[in-house]
Amino acid sequence: MVNGVAVAGPPASLPPDTEQQQTQAQKQKKTTPPPPCNLAEAEDRLELGKTTRFPAQPFNPFYDPPCRFEAEVYNCIIRGNIPKDIDGTFYRCMPDFAWAPLYEDEVHMNGDGCIDAVRIHDGHADFKQRYVRTERFVIERAARQAVFGKYRNRYTDDPRVKHKIHSTANTHVVFFENQLLALKEDSHPYAMDPDTLSTKGPYDFHGQYKAATHTAHPKIDAATGEFITMGYEAKGDTTTDVVYYLFDKNGQKLEECWFTAPFAGLMHDMAATDKWIVFILPPLKSVPLDLLKTGHHHFAWDDDEPIWLGILPRRNPRPEDVRWFRSKNAFIGHAGNAFDGDDGCVYFDAPIVYANMFFFFPPLDSDGPPAMPSAPLQDGHGGYVRFKLDPNAIDNYVEATTLVPLTGEMPKVDDRYLTKQYGKLFLCIHTNSDGSPSKGGLWNTIAICDVETGKHRYWSAGDSTVLEEVAFCPRTKDSPEADGYILTMASRIDKMLTCILILDSAKIEEGPVAIIELPFRLRLGIHGSWVGGDQFAERKELCDMEGVTDEVLREFQTAPVTLPDVPRRPAIQYPGPPPGSPAGFSGPPPPGFKGPQPGVNGHHAPATNGS
Ligand SMILES: [Fe+2]
Repeated sequence: MVNGVAVAGPPASLPPDTEQQQTQAQKQKKTTPPPPCNLAEAEDRLELGKTTRFPAQPFNPFYDPPCRFEAEVYNCIIRGNIPKDIDGTFYRCMPDFAWAPLYEDEVHMNGDGCIDAVRIHDGHADFKQRYVRTERFVIERAARQAVFGKYRNRYTDDPRVKHKIHSTANTHVVFFENQLLALKEDSHPYAMDPDTLSTKGPYDFHGQYKAATHTAHPKIDAATGEFITMGYEAKGDTTTDVVYYLFDKNGQKLEECWFTAPFAGLMHDMAATDKWIVFILPPLKSVPLDLLKTGHHHFAWDDDEPIWLGILPRRNPRPEDVRWFRSKNAFIGHAGNAFDGDDGCVYFDAPIVYANMFFFFPPLDSDGPPAMPSAPLQDGHGGYVRFKLDPNAIDNYVEATTLVPLTGEMPKVDDRYLTKQYGKLFLCIHTNSDGSPSKGGLWNTIAICDVETGKHRYWSAGDSTVLEEVAFCPRTKDSPEADGYILTMASRIDKMLTCILILDSAKIEEGPVAIIELPFRLRLGIHGSWVGGDQFAERKELCDMEGVTDEVLREFQTAPVTLPDVPRRPAIQYPGPPPGSPAGFSGPPPPGFKGPQPGVNGHHAPATNGS
């Protein structure tokens, strides 16, 4: 100590020679460069930058780190042949964190919304991926790091953004008024150009939409073009206010009705019939505002609360018309469909789980951070069920009956049958290696279910692939229900690549008729939509066509390529690729080539052009 102030140096108890040796060692450490190392060793030695150091959570259950890129692929590589009667665009939403989250218990559903578009026409497929320019995305791009805090908790933000729009626009994308609406249920939709994928900005139905929030699962009635929608916590965080809106096909407001729910909670999806709207309120309750202010998650499961289902007349509704039914403690994430029965009842169908599927929002009294449950969540799965909701019932308790005994999710029906009596359902399920249905695992199988008989047909992609919610393209405008093409994204875990599969619903068991291959991996997506080519006001290219003038198009777009007769340089005959060869590789594999390896993001094949 010198005048009461500690001075730098070794502890006084060390012998002098040891002090000298240590000082020498410290000097050497500072001046000696690290020993030579290979790249893998260097990766271990060098720390990732803080703003892009993504934690393992919320990126489980398998290695699925953010992509963080935007891309175009013109004329994607295709295996097989895309049927010529497929004409339209498959849009899909992906939560993709642009920046490392600020809190370690962040949830996957708070990633930045990235929209994928796969435009299919005349047997070709083009691809584009772009982030939605939400207010959050723009601010964080300027800051080069995350600025917004935890999912739906503005009290964990940098105070400068507390009152900004929090939407990540990452859940669903639908087509309305000749534009895309990228949806997140805590905010208004974001409107996007369907061709450039540029963001127009928040959309409020021309000033007619007054609620603070808007569902990610509106319904479009194919018969009328009407847009059926709702918002919960509609007057702000944790409020019990719910709003229902009906717009005509031009975005003109037809109905608006405000009412209250039994409690504030996660009302993720909804359903509709010709006459009624169905609201779904599982016991994932919004926590009190005081808890939000302490940094708590927005939702907490309540084991003692039933699931509630509300119905409201679709036309001329009044707040007092809402009727709430209760059932067992259960989780319904997504609606399959609903329709009016001849008996005046509302029939509502959905997959149901008698457990908290969102385990990352545990009950309030749980100790410690949220953890994966010890028992598979699917153990509590009740299959695809039907609720009969009688508007004139005296008792408000209802029980579900099983329609399809499958452990599945992401239910989807032929869009032409939404709100109507229907017979077919698409479902994501998991099957074992031998093809038998299983209770757990990531979805690797697409099933077409008959909701009357409970039977299903399916195709499994195998153990190393994860499949996503399907989009359905009818074979023709008037083809029978569910007759057409099924599109789904497939994550190849073994190759760390993503492809788009096209299956013929009439022969789903045979597997894809075409595979659209992407030269990179995408993160797992959430929801998406098929938009037929006839729905666009104008037919445009999806990808950048800079330099391709009308003159070039006239000469080369349709005319076949002809080659002069040059015997010494025979034209390549494009033999089919050998089995297992990488995308775009038309010849035999080069010596030593073993195919893409797990963890390698890309192809190893050399370019082959025959020259
Ligand atoms: Fe959803």
